[in-house]
Amino acid sequence: MNRPASSPYRIAPSILSADFARLGEEVREVIAAGADWIHFDVMDNHYVPNLTVGPMVCQAIKPHAKTPAGVAVPVDVHLMVSPVDALAASFAQAGADLISFHPDASTHVHRSIQAIRSAGCQVGLVFNPAEPLTVLDWVIDDIDLILIMSVNPGFGGQGFIDSALRKVEQARKRIQSSGKDIRLEVDGGIKADNIRRVADAGADTFVAGSAIFGKPDYKAVIDAMRQALAA
Ligand code: DX5
Ligand code: ZN
Repeated sequence: MNRPASSPYRIAPSILSADFARLGEEVREVIAAGADWIHFDVMDNHYVPNLTVGPMVCQAIKPHAKTPAGVAVPVDVHLMVSPVDALAASFAQAGADLISFHPDASTHVHRSIQAIRSAGCQVGLVFNPAEPLTVLDWVIDDIDLILIMSVNPGFGGQGFIDSALRKVEQARKRIQSSGKDIRLEVDGGIKADNIRRVADAGADTFVAGSAIFGKPDYKAVIDAMRQALAA
């Protein structure tokens, strides 16, 4: 059962930990288990020391990104690539709904934001564990999502970095001052036993890869996360 649209929380399983040989089926299964978004990690072996998948795979999973009743589920593309703009345009063409990039991976952050928006997608900015939020002084009015990394980008299955909680608190304050409807997502090391702390710091959207796809029963994990959030 998907969470009703009135709920502030979204759970975004990262397919980085899925079985890539059965990706369409994995996407359908995790949505049937209650996923709100599909988180799609793109790594280029340049900005991060790992290599994953490109726009062709995004296009291939897009028809699977819907609930059993046929309602479309957003594909949340997290670009860990440099440069940003050309690939972002390809992902927009491939059916991405949201595209987030790391400001330190783009020479012209404002231009990259505009490029993604003009391609018809929502735009997110991603902040590594040691990256300050100061760029938001200049672009918060132009974005739809802030993504705080609670691990160093590049790999699934790492431990949660606690200082991310302070950054989430700071990001929440900035969103409140902006008066804008901006999602605050956290990515890395999130599990049913720490998701409540992340929500208490101010997050509303939670990426989880190994915690969900590493387990046999996706629904049991997602339900446990929702229970922790509701507690
Ligand atoms: C890391 C990715 C994450 C990753 C999270 O660079 O951005 O989305 O899949 O994986 P877990 O939940 O296993 O930490
Ligand atoms: Zn990610």
